Amino acid sequence: MKKGTILSGMRPTGSLHLGNYFGALENWVKLQDEYNCFFTIVDWHALTTGYEDTSDIKNNINEMIIDWLSAGLDPEKCKIFLQSHVKEHAELHLLFSMITPLSWLTRCPTYKDQLAQMKDRNITTYGFLGYPCLQAADILVYKADAVPVGEDQLPHLELTREIARRFNFLYGEIFPEPQPKLTKAKVLPGIDGRKMSKSYQNTIALSDSPDEIRKKVSQMITDPARIKKDDPGHPEVCAVFAFHKVFNEGEVAEIEESCRDGKIGCVACKKNLAGKMTEYMAPIYERRQEYMKKPELLREIINHGGEEACKAAAKTMEEVRKAMKIDW
Ligand code: TRP
Ligand code: SF4
Repeated sequence: MKKGTILSGMRPTGSLHLGNYFGALENWVKLQDEYNCFFTIVDWHALTTGYEDTSDIKNNINEMIIDWLSAGLDPEKCKIFLQSHVKEHAELHLLFSMITPLSWLTRCPTYKDQLAQMKDRNITTYGFLGYPCLQAADILVYKADAVPVGEDQLPHLELTREIARRFNFLYGEIFPEPQPKLTKAKVLPGIDGRKMSKSYQNTIALSDSPDEIRKKVSQMITDPARIKKDDPGHPEVCAVFAFHKVFNEGEVAEIEESCRDGKIGCVACKKNLAGKMTEYMAPIYERRQEYMKKPELLREIINHGGEEACKAAAKTMEEVRKAMKIDW
């Protein structure tokens, strides 16, 4: 018996990197065995900030499907689908928009931050203001109990619970109050030691081949104070060491000590890491090669996931319409 219902989603913003993988996907792969999981690519959410140019969206969705499946999400164990395939999300979003006070949305910290940051885009739109309301619909239409997300999403979950409470108060107990499921995210820097981010071009993609991984590891910044091989090193400032912590737990203590004592050279240290990383990522890479050959299978998986999601969502919507008396 699976424990409860989980929903999570990602905006289709292009191919995922190892920061995204260890921040979310790795955990989703574990959760699919224990919970009744819904994982959705939220293409409508992508429009809230990207409505002007939609030329990349289809391609981004494709990449995301392949990234998810190669990371190990298994369509036999969880439901993988596109938000726009399940129209119930839109209906519930509309109904929630009737009961959500404007002030809840305008004071949402993510709203204020994004408005300040995205000066280059006109996002003073109705749709963007309603972003958290749509997210609440994504979650509540499956009556999810828990939502695995990063800390940045906590305000949206708080709003989701507020909307659920308000709905339940007005029309009767329909919705649970979904809790965030935070995991200690393993933090990986980019290969230049800054935060891993596409805009810095310092990422390792989930799709990188073993050769690309080896090349990027060789380019990683190390402790700049080490010039000669026997100079004492400072692993805490070294990107390679941060990766060892994630990919090479078994040897990390030993590496730390030999680095500090100047007993290993950075070249050997990187070679060791590249071996561990390519080994870890080999099954991901292999699954990708298989899925890339079968675009019709990807479509089948997503369509099937969408149908399953629709069944669950339709059931909730019947209850919702009945409770609101919009079922004449
Ligand atoms: N807002 C989320 C993000 O930017 C994406 C998202 C949309 C989501 N709907 C969701 C996440 C429902 C969890 C549950 O990451
Ligand atoms: Fe980094 Fe390893 Fe070089 Fe130490 S030996 S500075 S941990 S690459």
